[in-house]
Amino acid sequence: MELSQIAPAKLNLALHVRARRADGYHDLETLFCFLGDGDRLVVRPADDLSLAITGPFGAGLPVAADNLVLRAARLLAEETNIASGAHIVLEKNLPVASGIGGGSADAAAALRLLNRLWRLDWALERLAALGAGLGADVPACIHSRYCVASGVGDVMTFAPSILPNRTPILLVNPLQTVSTPAVFQGWDREDRGPLPTQPSIAELSGTTRNDLTPSAINQCPAITGILEALDITGAELVRMSGSGATCFALYRDAVVRDRAAADIAARFPEYWMLATHSVDHDFSG
Ligand code: C5P
Repeated sequence: MELSQIAPAKLNLALHVRARRADGYHDLETLFCFLGDGDRLVVRPADDLSLAITGPFGAGLPVAADNLVLRAARLLAEETNIASGAHIVLEKNLPVASGIGGGSADAAAALRLLNRLWRLDWALERLAALGAGLGADVPACIHSRYCVASGVGDVMTFAPSILPNRTPILLVNPLQTVSTPAVFQGWDREDRGPLPTQPSIAELSGTTRNDLTPSAINQCPAITGILEALDITGAELVRMSGSGATCFALYRDAVVRDRAAADIAARFPEYWMLATHSVDHDFSG
């Protein structure tokens, strides 16, 4: 038996950082949405736990014991006292450390797949609670559908998506990694206020923010050029996701997105780009 699943990339449509906590983490409010593209995981039965990494960005990610996919697998095995192992193949399609989920989405997909391979029959909520110990974004990635999150990003409220399904989206990444802890550390500690509840796409631009943008730009000035270039492509919203450096643009029309993709590719031929769309996944079945 072999099981395979996508690890959908996530976007933070908005990310308001509210406070630095005593444990070094940050209280925040964010709107997560998920994409039709991502890394892919395959699992098959084995005596031990093992991991192989393939795909266009596989070379940048060594198979180490602290790999989030292996940590997720060990955590679930320990929690359930399962004697079986698994061989996991991670097809790394997205740039590493780029603000669009990556490791968190991979860990979440590993938990979902091993739940099935090992016939544990855990509900997504239980997997999400376990996954919170692996990373702040893992619980949202377990569900991979639009939600509002608070806490460190792990307290989710599900609501109807403010994006039409399959909203055309363009991702652009300068292929320079930024350090998430350093970007949070560089936040200026000014609380600029809460997220509005269920803003429209039009309201997102004016009334919401990604408060990590200035700090990410300090680490990676190329972000400024990407945001400026996307700003003139007719997008409904242009923003950086998470701690960067991936920036995204939302479009009403896939034709406009594809024209933007051609313009950006001509202007920044060395950057990574992905024309994709939003999806509310259903992993409950
Ligand atoms: O939880 P995760 O391992 O994905 O977070 C990576 C790093 O980002 C944390 O070690 C922490 O430095 C920072 N972080 C934070 N506040 C959050 C989420 C992440 O300071 N809410």
